[in-house]
Parts: sequence; structure tokens; C-alpha cells
Amino acid sequence: MTKAANITWHEGSVSREEREKLLNQKGLTIWLTGLSASGKSTIATVLEQALLHKGVSAYRLDGDNIRFGLNKNLGFSPEDREENIRRIAEVSKLFSDATVVAITSFISPYIKDRQLARQLHESSGIPFVEVFVDAPLSVVEQRDPKGLYKKARSGEIKEFTGISAPYEAPESPEIHIRTDLVDIEQAVKHILDYLTEKRLVVAP
Ligand SMILES: Nc1ncnc2c1ncn2[C@@H]1O[C@H](COP(=O)(O)OP(=O)(O)OP(=O)(O)O)[C@@H](O)[C@H]1O
Ligand SMILES: [Mg+2]
Repeated sequence: MTKAANITWHEGSVSREEREKLLNQKGLTIWLTGLSASGKSTIATVLEQALLHKGVSAYRLDGDNIRFGLNKNLGFSPEDREENIRRIAEVSKLFSDATVVAITSFISPYIKDRQLARQLHESSGIPFVEVFVDAPLSVVEQRDPKGLYKKARSGEIKEFTGISAPYEAPESPEIHIRTDLVDIEQAVKHILDYLTEKRLVVAP
């Protein structure tokens, strides 16, 4: 919903295609989704580094980090989670429109919200690659690097995805990675191979 009235879109004079040609870069968004501790941030960090070392402009938008700034006024209720994802979808679209490979790592538990993020990109012709970073609850609960599952089990944290709030797994993600079965390097290679195969990145 748009609150402002009397606004008019001001078209730029360089199209995305021209921008991509001029910079020899293609933008896209790689959207990592999965339970807490499934490995989204870990994979995003290594992936970003790998792309940058290839000379591909990449930038991470990470759940926790964004909640320190842009989304500091949002909590974890369904409405706030929806608004959290809506803003990230818009920001990742801006980055990818600017020819950067945007890598987002947010639990993003609702199919509807991820669908909205996808539509936002695809309706503007920007590729959207959904990556399901998947591991069984028993495994992520065992990892628990931030001690969050422990707090969720004891009731100290309410509305925790996988324990007291739902996680709706992607039905047909572009990439599905089982992080209990493959290591971080293999997971990143899987994503890089996909990008190469689909000609989504231009390495200089
Ligand atoms: N194959 C793997 N891929 C990624 N992480 C793994 C893998 N195997 C073990 N791990 C470990 O699992 C943990 C994943 O934590 P990470 O912070 O990346 O999760 P996250 O999905 O970003 O969680 P959150 O939603 O809470 O931010 C790390 O401690 C990481 O070292
Ligand atoms: Mg994370």
C-alpha cells in the first residue's frame, strides 16, 4: 500500500541493460531461506567472498545486521516479519538493479512473503534465485551457535521459528542445500555452479 499521494515515478536515462553492458556486470538476488542455524549467514559470507575474488560485485544483506539499522523498529510478530521481508526484498531489488549480486540471509519463514520478494524482482526482469538452506530441526538445535533454541525451548524467546512459530519450506526453490549432508565449501560451490550454468554472472 502506498501512503503518499501526488508522486510520479521519474525514469532514469540509462536502462538496466545499458547499465549492465557499461559495467560488464549483471545483477541478481540470491535469497537464502531456512531455519536459524541452518547456515545462511555462514554460506552467504563465503559466497560473497568467492564472488568478490572472481571480480563480481556482491553484497550481503544479513538478517541480524539489518535489524540493527534499517529494520531496528521491527520485532518478530507475523506482521513485523512480513514488513521485515518486504523491506529486504525492496532493498535487494535496488542492489540487484544496480548490477550487484545481492545475497540475502533471512529466515523468511512464510511462503507468501518470499513469493512477494520473487515477484518484485521478476516483474522487473531481475533474476531471483531462492536457496533453501536446509537441515533438520534436531541438527540446527544441536548446533545452536547463538543459544537461541535453548532460550526458545525454555520459553525465554517467544515466536521462535521451528519451535513456537512456523517455517514454511520452499516448494520449488532453484537450489536446495542440505547442510547436514554437505560442508560449507560444497554448499557454496553448488550455488556458484548454478550461477555459471545459468549464465547469471559475468566474470571479468
Ligand atoms: N554445511 C554447513 N553449512 C553452513 N553452516 C554449517 C555447516 N555445517 C555446520 N555449520 C555451522 O552451522 C552454524 C550455522 O550458523 P549461521 O549463523 O550461519 O546460521 P543462520 O542460518 O544464519 O542462522 P540465523 O537465522 O540465526 O541467522 C555455524 O556455526 C556453522 O559453522
Ligand atoms: Mg544468520
